[in-house]
Formats: sequence, C-alpha cells, structure tokens
Amino acid sequence: MDNSEYYQNKICIVTGANSGIGYAVSEELLKRGAIVYMAGRNPEKVANAAKQLSSYKDQIHTLIVDVTDQHQVQKAIEDTVAEAGRLDFLFNNAGVGFKSPYEKATLKDWKTIIDTNLWSVIYGVHTAVPIMLKQGSGHIVNTSSVSGIIPTPFSSLYSLTKFGVTGFTESLKYEYAEKGIYFSTICPSNIATPIFKKDMSGNVNDEVKIPDDAYSVDKTAVLILDQVSQQKGIIVIPEEPNTHNWNCYIKGEDEVLFQLAHSLRASYEKEGN
Ligand SMILES: NC(=O)c1ccc[n+]([C@@H]2O[C@H](COP(=O)([O-])OP(=O)(O)OC[C@H]3O[C@@H](n4cnc5c(N)ncnc54)[C@H](OP(=O)(O)O)[C@@H]3O)[C@@H](O)[C@H]2O)c1
Repeated sequence: MDNSEYYQNKICIVTGANSGIGYAVSEELLKRGAIVYMAGRNPEKVANAAKQLSSYKDQIHTLIVDVTDQHQVQKAIEDTVAEAGRLDFLFNNAGVGFKSPYEKATLKDWKTIIDTNLWSVIYGVHTAVPIMLKQGSGHIVNTSSVSGIIPTPFSSLYSLTKFGVTGFTESLKYEYAEKGIYFSTICPSNIATPIFKKDMSGNVNDEVKIPDDAYSVDKTAVLILDQVSQQKGIIVIPEEPNTHNWNCYIKGEDEVLFQLAHSLRASYEKEGN
C-alpha cells in the first residue's frame, strides 16, 4: 500500500501531543489524513497545540490526561473508542527526562519517573489490548529511547524506565503478532525538543540549551510514521545514532562509556550540573 494512504481516516491517540515529538507526530498524522486525539496533561497547552493545527480542525480531538493516573488513561481510551467506534493506533509518547548522579536522586524522583515513563505505557497497553483484540487489529507505539537499548551513565533512572518500555513492547510484539496487533518501540537519540529544558513537572528553564547536534523533530515524525507503517519493531531515530558507543558496548569494549561517565562526573563535581 502507498505509505501516504496508510493512516487515512485511522483513529489515533497520541499522548504528550502538545509538545516535541508528540506534537510533530500528531501533525504528520494529520497531514496523512488520520483522525488524531491529541492528549496532554495541561488543558491550556493542549488547546494551544490544537489551535496551531487548526487547518486540520475537522480531524482533531483533544483529551486531557495525566498519564500517571490509570483511571484517566483508561477513560481517555474508552471515551475515544465510544466516540470514534475503534482505536487503530495508540502512541504512548508522553515522558520526562532526568539526568543526575544516581546518589542525588530521591525516592520521589524514582516514583515520578517510573509513573510517567513506565506505568503510563502499562496503563495504555492494559486498556488498549482488549479493545484491539476485539477488533482483530491495532498498533501500539511505545516511546522508549536510545537509553532504553544502550546504558547511559548519569541517566540510570531514565534508563530503567526506558529499558522497561523496550522489553515490554518487544515481548508483546511477538505475543500478539498472530492476533493482528502490532507493537513498535521508538528509540530516539537526541531530538530537538523542549525535554532538555524541562523538569519532571514540565517547568521550563530557558537557560538550558538544546544540544546543537540534536536531530530535527519534524524529520523524526516522518521517520517514525514511515517505519510504523512498515510494522517495524525497534525504530531508532536517527537511524544510526552514536553507533560508536553502541558497537563498543555490544562488543564489551565499553571504555568509551567509562570515559563519558568520567567526564560527566567531573562536570557534576565542578559545576553541579
Ligand atoms: N527529545 C529527545 O531527545 C528524546 C530522546 C529519547 C526519548 N525521548 C522520549 O520521547 C518522548 C517525547 O519527549 P519529547 O522529547 O517530545 O519531550 P517534550 O517536548 O517535553 O514532550 C513530552 C510530552 O509529555 C508530556 N507529559 C509529561 N508528563 C506527563 C504526564 N504526567 N501526563 C501527560 N503528559 C505528560 C509533556 O507535557 P508538558 O508539556 O505538560 O510537560 C509533553 O507534552 C518522551 O517519552 C521522551 O522520553 C525523547
């Protein structure tokens, strides 16, 4: 099938749709003719995002959902199905970043990041799978990270959540293939989004810069949707991120990661960040 028609009239939910990758994926889905339920935790931000895409207003719906709350996730998915009659794609994209020396992380930090990055995905899958089983079709796209396939020093909390997402999604990919339900795991490297500037509550610190070499978020959305339409399992964005670290790690020659950890430790000890 021509890729441009793959998403035509498909019912899609995108969490974290007001910002960054979720916004770009929503826009790209709309361009490809999908009906998009844009979900976010902050009503004003979600309304603004939908307003920016008002040229597609007939294809847009909005949902206010805090993905750390199981009841809100379940209600959003069930309400969508009640209204639209089905659910073709669920993009469990919402997430937060967290970089810190492990010893500085509090148990509250652990709880917030696991609730936001891991339980959110479990809640979404828990509600969507029975619906998709009944339909005999559907595709769940969970956002992990390159830090969900390669260890990243000073991101141990984040890595724990993202390795969890990768393992969970890959397992389900095999488990449900014969039932017509597809699973993809998105593993972005550095993508130019506000995540670098935000704390876990979504407060933005404009003094923090997005890395200069971060990859385009719009190109990210195109790569994601192209590869999801090919039912690819693990989708790394861009396709060859930091292959040096990856190759060294796989071969057990991980001196490069020790060096990275050493320079980050020095920076934390000198500058506190
Ligand atoms: N950008 C990267 O380099 C990169 C790399 C690897 C993986 N990722 C992953 O990609 C996904 C999207 O991140 P992004 O870079 O696009 O960051 P972003 O621009 O900050 O977008 C994250 C989205 O998730 C939402 N969100 C956070 N906590 C939520 C909650 N409790 N309930 C509902 N929504 C919540 C945010 O809402 P607010 O706007 O209200 O905060 C925002 O809409 C995340 O899972 C992230 O871990 C990103």
